[in-house]
Amino acid sequence: MDEVQQIKERLNIEEVISSYLTLKKAGSNLKANCPFHNEKTPSFMVSPERQSFKCFGCGSGGDVFTFIEQMEGVDFYNALKILADRAGVKLKPKSIQYGQKEYAPDINTKLYEINDWAARIYHELLLKHPKAKIAREYLKNRGIKMPAIETFKIGFAPDSWDYIIKFLGAKGYEKDEIFKAGLVVKNDRGEYYDRFRGRIMFPINNVMGNCIAFTSRVLNDNDKVAKYLNSADSSIYHKGKVLYGLDLAKMEIKSSDLAILVEGNMDVIACHQAGSRNVVASSGTATTLDQLKILNRYASEIAFSFDADSAGETAMKRTVLLALQNDINTKIISLPEVFKDPDEAITSDPKNWQKAVESAKPALEHWIDLLIRKTPDLSVIAKKKIAKEILAAIKLTASEIEQEHYIKYLAGKLSVSESSLFDALSKTKSEKKPQEEATKVQKISDPERLIGLIWSEVELTPEVREIVELLNASNNKNIDKIVKEIEKGSIERDKFSEDEILYFDQLEMTALHDLENEDKETKRAEVKFLVLKIKRESREKIKADFVRRIAEAEAASDQKKITELVAEFSELIK
Ligand code: UTP
Ligand code: MN
Repeated sequence: MDEVQQIKERLNIEEVISSYLTLKKAGSNLKANCPFHNEKTPSFMVSPERQSFKCFGCGSGGDVFTFIEQMEGVDFYNALKILADRAGVKLKPKSIQYGQKEYAPDINTKLYEINDWAARIYHELLLKHPKAKIAREYLKNRGIKMPAIETFKIGFAPDSWDYIIKFLGAKGYEKDEIFKAGLVVKNDRGEYYDRFRGRIMFPINNVMGNCIAFTSRVLNDNDKVAKYLNSADSSIYHKGKVLYGLDLAKMEIKSSDLAILVEGNMDVIACHQAGSRNVVASSGTATTLDQLKILNRYASEIAFSFDADSAGETAMKRTVLLALQNDINTKIISLPEVFKDPDEAITSDPKNWQKAVESAKPALEHWIDLLIRKTPDLSVIAKKKIAKEILAAIKLTASEIEQEHYIKYLAGKLSVSESSLFDALSKTKSEKKPQEEATKVQKISDPERLIGLIWSEVELTPEVREIVELLNASNNKNIDKIVKEIEKGSIERDKFSEDEILYFDQLEMTALHDLENEDKETKRAEVKFLVLKIKRESREKIKADFVRRIAEAEAASDQKKITELVAEFSELIK
């Protein structure tokens, strides 16, 4: 059996896609907001039965490999590589036939391998090498225990200019390849040397758990070098699109429906070690919109913990505005002021962190409170200044209910009237970026809606069979075909082609979209309602038709026709 088959057998598509986003049940399929285009209502569908995905909004679709290709921006072979690593399948470094085409390893494949080797050797050095004793001691002093060192595969890069070059060279990798992986630096004379020297190494993984880069820390804070240093961006590592710890945090983020974003790598580790596992950090960059959107795929809310200094305050404002502009729900976690960051608070007592998370406040409330706290003397000028800053943020919130909530909150804190704030709000210029056009929920007719529900495994009740001929008038081949099945009394799915199934799946998803929940009772009630509605509308249509024809006959003074039509009509509505 070849590697492709092995992978398909070990990993199903729902499990793989679930690593990237939260899927919800939609009849026999699963749905989510599409990760490949902007939308607020799901048109992205995963079919466990066919092991495929399809977005009815942007048209993307395919199998598990296509999904990884699009998600990670790699070709087929590297999608295979990512999944092989995850499935524990050994991929031989030779080309592979899939469908009509042949695929071969390329530089990206080597970048995954290089990072993987580096992570292994750095970790092993940290655990065993005599020269790594200072690093082991440093971690011990910071309270990082063995299980966390193992989970995060923390490592140590020896203080050498060519350790990793030699190690990877012996494995057969060229200096230029190691350079492309971001692990070495090239000087003006074109010479290569190790980027990471005498540092604690933290592997940065993609959500599937493949190591794609490193962040690193000096051992001695007094050294005149950057405290933290990341791998250079590479074709498999884009700083702004990765979150440190997400591969380990994603499950907990989903189950708590909350993603916590902290500032430092050490904060992530301290939180996980303290049992708070829905925590990630952006590493080596200010938080980007891409990162917020990624977190939003797993959870509906993001909580931030910023350092309690002026840099942290600036970061808070920037990030909250970014979230507001993009309709992302956020909370702020604030720690007692004596602690600089989550790591310090936890080291002092893990309860500090738990309490702070539990009492996290909506971002704008936190922002308002912060300004009020910083301005003990609320002069008129100070009030104006605060109002200006906060109103600009309120203006960005999408929902009017939220706007009103914060206006009330602000009015209370500033002791000014709500109406004057509303006036000021209407004069505030919006910096809201024009939203990318979100795809609308597809409009479908009532008969299509009914078919969508029937498709989602609702029994064929006598009511449905009774109106089946009314559905027939749809001028739609797919519907005509399913109507024939309904007439026979049961729907046999294997009678339908892939395209037809896809069409009905789409109807099903749209039909289920408005239902509060998808239990059988709700679906049955909706079917009943639709049957009555379709019947009534059909009767009204017939009635209107007769009225028109009778009026025509009257205009032509065709007495015979009139009598005929009236008789026919009264027979029909009996
Ligand atoms: P901090 O300076 O707040 O450090 O940087 P920290 O997280 O508390 O680190 P420890 O506790 O001293 O080990 C926060 C984050 O900013 C990035 C790193 O991602 C760091 O975790 N940073 C910081 C850099 O990228 N480069 C730096 O030189 C410093
Ligand atoms: Mn810290």
